[in-house]
Amino acid sequence: MAAEAEEIRGIGHSVRRKEDDRFIRGAGNYIDDIHLPGMLHMAILRSPFAHAKLNSVDGSRAQALEGVIAVVTGELMAQHNLAWMPTLSGDTEAVLVTDKVRFQGQEVAAVIATDPYIARDALELIDVDYDPLGVVISPEQAAAADAPVIRDEKEGQTDNHIYHWESGDKEATDTAFAQADKVVSLDTWYPRSHPAPLETCGCVADVNPATGQATIYMTSQAPQLIRTVFALVAGLPEEKIRIVSPDIGGGFGNKVPVYPGYVIATAASLLLGHPVKWIEDRSENLISTGFARDFWMHGEMALKQDGTMTGLRVSLDADEGAFHADAQPSKLKVGLFHVVSGSYDLPAAHITADGYYTNKAPGGVAYRCSFRVTEASYMIERLVQNAAYEVGMDPAEFRKKNFIEKDQFPYESPTGLVYDSGDYHAAMDLALEKVGYDQLRKEQAEAREQGRLIGIGLASFTEIVGAGPHKDYDILGIKMNDGAELRVHPTGKAHLKISSQTQGQGHETTFAQIVAEELGIQPEDIKVTHGDSDDTPYGLGTYASRSTPTVGAATAMVSRKLADKARKLAAHLLEVSEDDVEFEKGRFTVAGAPDKAVTIQDVAFAAYTNFPDGMEAGLEGVAYYDPPNLTYPFGTYAVVVEVDADTGQWKVERVVAVDDCGVRINPMIVEGQIHGGLTEGFGIAAMEQITFDEEGNCIGANFLDYLLPTAWETPRFELGETVTPSPHHPIGAKGVGESATVGSPAAFVNAVIDALWPLGVRNIDMPLTSGKVWEAIQAARTT
Ligand code: CDP
Repeated sequence: MAAEAEEIRGIGHSVRRKEDDRFIRGAGNYIDDIHLPGMLHMAILRSPFAHAKLNSVDGSRAQALEGVIAVVTGELMAQHNLAWMPTLSGDTEAVLVTDKVRFQGQEVAAVIATDPYIARDALELIDVDYDPLGVVISPEQAAAADAPVIRDEKEGQTDNHIYHWESGDKEATDTAFAQADKVVSLDTWYPRSHPAPLETCGCVADVNPATGQATIYMTSQAPQLIRTVFALVAGLPEEKIRIVSPDIGGGFGNKVPVYPGYVIATAASLLLGHPVKWIEDRSENLISTGFARDFWMHGEMALKQDGTMTGLRVSLDADEGAFHADAQPSKLKVGLFHVVSGSYDLPAAHITADGYYTNKAPGGVAYRCSFRVTEASYMIERLVQNAAYEVGMDPAEFRKKNFIEKDQFPYESPTGLVYDSGDYHAAMDLALEKVGYDQLRKEQAEAREQGRLIGIGLASFTEIVGAGPHKDYDILGIKMNDGAELRVHPTGKAHLKISSQTQGQGHETTFAQIVAEELGIQPEDIKVTHGDSDDTPYGLGTYASRSTPTVGAATAMVSRKLADKARKLAAHLLEVSEDDVEFEKGRFTVAGAPDKAVTIQDVAFAAYTNFPDGMEAGLEGVAYYDPPNLTYPFGTYAVVVEVDADTGQWKVERVVAVDDCGVRINPMIVEGQIHGGLTEGFGIAAMEQITFDEEGNCIGANFLDYLLPTAWETPRFELGETVTPSPHHPIGAKGVGESATVGSPAAFVNAVIDALWPLGVRNIDMPLTSGKVWEAIQAARTT
């Protein structure tokens, strides 16, 4: 009966990604691959102005073009009560403009045609009459007393201020600063950047006129949540809505919000009785969909003479764009920014944040970060590096002196977060050893003698992922808990359905490995399904590195439920008491008689063919996970650069990245995630920025103006790891997807500042183009 145990490729195995087989053959199924009978095509007319009164939209010339089925205007949407929709932050957003446009690229009208090219051509035949208005493109302008009010349609909204939010202890922080020997400050701006996924946003909306069933194929990172929002917006019964997210070509936070295009296409399909496809082009994606960052931050650190940190104060202004549309947990206006005390044992901290409307596309998405953690990490790591120089300490020593010690975990931060576990010294020591820090500092001193500018930048970040415990975490009131459903078939193969939605992270492989670890079924025998709201358990989706901490936990829990039943079945088959059954890696044995054994496959078959009286047939279950806490991955990054003072050009010589994400399910996938994040971090530090002119024209509307790093300029990465499991997580794993983007920008910028500090350069805002670096050197030389 017993089979020889084969090694199970569960947790810790670099199993090749199951999904890559179809991707590398070009056989993925993306939105644009979907073709339905009778399908029509939609194109959107966007505003050329950033702020303008809309006098009229005349679609009659467009309507007359052969192949045009309908021209949709704001007026038409208003007749169906669909001109405005709620956002995931509890604000409202125009679906199609009725009163005035509020950012360049905003949706003004849509054309539905038999062919996508006719739809695009017809856009040029729509006549729109605008009266341009004064424009606001920064929080500073938004706060000015004479600033035009962007959201004048909102009752009671008399200015551009959206929210004020505070965290920490003001009094204790004021005392710390009053008693400080030294105070160091830094003003910095984290520029507006774009997630720029390879696949742009789009949908195919298919409302069946006969049944009223709406099936919407959509590029969404959160299909379950979107279904609920659609039910609320459209007033349709939720069971009549099915959201399907097929293969998604990258999300990075860009595919969390509900975009007007999805709503217009669905309304058009409902009214016309045909499926309607809408796919953005690259410029539409860059100018109108969820941006990230755009935080203007001021930080101050109180210090003792010996370099001990005693207090932190941070205030920030957030540029949210024309609508407050990003998905933040409703209690947390700037997400998890209050993790800004980072890896340091700071006794007191106080944070204030103010959000403003501006004439820009809505932004603030969790672009490869857990709700504003990237901005927080950048602020503290830049401030810490500058503070080290100010107190005359080596930046590595300064950090180590102030790190939270290993035995202080669980550690309550001054803003009330409870860090689950960490060993910051170990990660730092490994990074310093790998980069050869002491030797590098000697080489740097020698190089300086010869007039060469070498810089060594460090960043020791603490991430916070896995939102979250239902007490504090919800989007629009819906708690952020996630589910997993598992069925083991009679032949011992399994089907796992999960509430997270992969966009390239390899979930089909890693979640199968969790089941493999728990039940001893090989990952290739486990099918993983996600992305279909009718066929997966409820959950709030994949962003903010939450999949492993939440859905990974639910997967382990449901596997353990099945393992409990499997043990009973094994006892029945082995004719022993359940207490005498031992289970390891898919084999049930009798205690003291290891030759008496059955496999999980034997047990699965028995679950349908030979189960004891009184037991339900089958081997399946569902689990929802409500995390008791978030998880706190961390790491230390070290970057070495050389700067050319004559041109401002800087070249990356080394990048060492030591990450600790607890137990690694698939080390190869984790390394891939870190490579991606480091590349993005480098891109932000060196070249990415969405710019606007003073009239609110978006300059970064294509990949010639919005620069993404290619393989040509991306540096080589040297990785290292430490393993500090999360004590509360069922498999000890912490999320990792975003960590490198969170941790690395500060390391790159700190390296350039380190090179230029002796020249008097104290700060340069990202992106560090050679022109900006050169100017900073010139400015320092003349002061
Ligand atoms: O939410 P998202 O999937 O973007 O982020 P994540 O939970 O950090 O996971 C990213 C990928 O890395 C997934 O395929 C995870 O299963 C994998 N991972 C892992 O293998 N081990 C970890 N400790 C964390 C993530």
